[in-house]
Amino acid sequence: MPLVPMRQILDEAAKGGYGVGAFNVNNMEQIQAIMEAAHETNSPAIIQASRGALKYSKMVYLRNLIQAALEEYPEIPVAMHLDHGNSVETCKQAIALDFTSVMIDGSLAEDGKTINSYEANVAITKTVVELAHPLGITVEGELGALGGIEDGQGANLGADELAAHLTDPAQAEEFVAETGLDALAVAVGTSHGAYKGARRDPETGQIMPPRLAMDRIREIHNRMPNCHMVMHGSSSVPQELVGIINKYGGKMPDTAGVAIEDIREGIKHGVCKVNVDTDSRLAITGAIRKVLSESPEKFDPREYLGPAREAAYEVYKARMIAFGQAGHAGDYECVTIEDMKKVYAG
Ligand code: G3H
Ligand code: 13P
Ligand code: ZN
Repeated sequence: MPLVPMRQILDEAAKGGYGVGAFNVNNMEQIQAIMEAAHETNSPAIIQASRGALKYSKMVYLRNLIQAALEEYPEIPVAMHLDHGNSVETCKQAIALDFTSVMIDGSLAEDGKTINSYEANVAITKTVVELAHPLGITVEGELGALGGIEDGQGANLGADELAAHLTDPAQAEEFVAETGLDALAVAVGTSHGAYKGARRDPETGQIMPPRLAMDRIREIHNRMPNCHMVMHGSSSVPQELVGIINKYGGKMPDTAGVAIEDIREGIKHGVCKVNVDTDSRLAITGAIRKVLSESPEKFDPREYLGPAREAAYEVYKARMIAFGQAGHAGDYECVTIEDMKKVYAG
């Protein structure tokens, strides 16, 4: 089946009361692992690429790898999404590459670092909606700002600044009405990357998962029950994956990610899309380190990329089950981009 508009995958998730993991990819192994996990668990899939991923994969390679994935598993609904688009131009590039969904991250300026004004965010998000919807393409926007930084992208906020930039529910309502977007990324205390906060258990001294502003998610959902929320920075940073990296020569400091129970609570209150990148990076790096450390004589990349793909598959499969998308791939007839053009035209 052709790529599905992300809007339909989110509409169905909202109807079914489950979340869908949106997994960042940069290479063939990650795409294969997502598809294998989606096939195994009978899940719809959202595959997303950042600007960095498009650059790394030289644009056209990712598009064609995803086409191969569709050929291998025609029964799986798959949306292809641009993650953190920084400009109208980047969104246009993704649409030209057949992406069925784009994120314009107007919470930050085009440099991907400076916090944008609300007005500038509305203006750029609206511009992207106006160009994407007539083409049948889904649009995600973001209001509020996350912590952390990935590949030069992100405001890199500290704990106090993070709290000051949580999404304001009343402003969110205005933002959705003014822009007409399909999905809203909210800032509720998550951060990108492997280091999501410095909360320590006072007794054990261990790093604890970030405390999320679940009340904001509930309030946004109460105000806009039909708004599809997106939780970025949702890797759980499993201790066992960090442990494998460190056991085989890595030097990752003590850290903790977002608790799966918090994500599931968000899903109960309007979160339909859950962004996960770091967990797959951890799984891949740990598996490669393990092979190379245990068998330093090995030099065939298949001997470490194979286990890396397998480790990523385990992460995707576990998340698909935890978010509730497992079992839902065959629930609906998929619409096309042409169908969506008509829906948006009213
Ligand atoms: O939100 C950012 C994603 O984790 C992508 O990271 O820009 O390093 O590909 P990247
Ligand atoms: P993590 O770094 O927590 O995996 O977040 C990924 C993300 O939000 C991509 O947009
Ligand atoms: Zn993100």
